[in-house]
Amino acid sequence: MERKKHTLQTLFKKVTDSIPITWLTCYDYPTAYLQEKAGIDMILVGDSLGMTILGYEGTLPVTMDTMILHTQAVRRGAPNTFIVGDMPYMTYQPSTETAIRNAGRFMAEAGCDAVKLEGGIEMCDRIRGIVNAGIPCIGHLGLTPQSVSALGGFRVQGKGAEQAKRIIESAKAIEEAGAFMILFEMVPDRILKLIKERAKDCIIMSLGSGPDGDGQLLIYHDMFGLFPKFKPRMAKVFGNAGEVILKGLSQYVSEVTNRSFPQPENYFKIPDEEYKKLLTMI
Ligand code: KIV
Repeated sequence: MERKKHTLQTLFKKVTDSIPITWLTCYDYPTAYLQEKAGIDMILVGDSLGMTILGYEGTLPVTMDTMILHTQAVRRGAPNTFIVGDMPYMTYQPSTETAIRNAGRFMAEAGCDAVKLEGGIEMCDRIRGIVNAGIPCIGHLGLTPQSVSALGGFRVQGKGAEQAKRIIESAKAIEEAGAFMILFEMVPDRILKLIKERAKDCIIMSLGSGPDGDGQLLIYHDMFGLFPKFKPRMAKVFGNAGEVILKGLSQYVSEVTNRSFPQPENYFKIPDEEYKKLLTMI
C-alpha cells in the first residue's frame, strides 16, 4: 500500500511524538524508489551530487539546471516523501531576489516540498524572503561545504567556545527568519543539545552532530560504500554495495571474456521456418 504523503505537519507530529526523523541524500529514480519503500521520511537532493555522482572535487560547479534534473527524477521515484532541494552555489548568495527565483524553480519545476541553503546570520534575509514567498526553507550550519575554502577544509565546527557561540546565535537568527528546520553538520554533540533545548518552533537535524536533535541525515553514498574517494568518520556503512557491484562487474568481465555469458536464457531465437525463409531472401 502507498504510504501517505509526508508534509510539514507530519514532520512536526514526529517531533511532538518524540519519534526521530529519518533523512537521506538521494539523486536518482531507483534509489528514491527504494528509500520511500524503506520508509525514509525526507530526501535531500544535495549539491553533494557534484562529488558523489559527477566526480568533482567539491560542490561549487553544480548548477541549478543539474539540480532540477536530478530532483525531478527523485520526485518520480518517491512521490510521497518530503523532498528538499539543496540550493547550489551562487543561486542564493547574490541577492534575496535571486534566492526566491531559484527556490521557486525547485518548487515549480521539480515538485520539491522545501529548499535548503547554507549559512548563518548573513543569510537571514534570503531565508525571510523565501519563506515570505510561501516556500518552506531549511538552514544549514556548522560545516557548510560551499564555504569549505573559508572554513579551512572539511572539519568540525564549534569546538571552541567563540565559534560555538556564533553557531548558537546563527541558529536563533535563522529560526527567527522563518526556517522550519536547521541541519547541523559536524558540530559537537553538546552544542547541538544546547541548540535543541533553545529551539522554539524549529526542527533540529544532525549530520555527524550527535543524537540529541529531532532526527538524522546521512549521505547515501557513504552508507553503502559508493563513494570511492573517502569515508567521513560520521558515516556508518550499513552495507557495502560498492563491493557487491565491483564483484559483479569483475565477474561480467571474466564471463564475457571466457564466453560463459550469454547463455540461451539471455538472448532470443528466430523460428527455424522464418530463418530458412530469410536465407532465401538475402
Ligand atoms: O549536499 C548535500 O548533500 C548536503 C549535505 C552535506 C548536508 O548539503
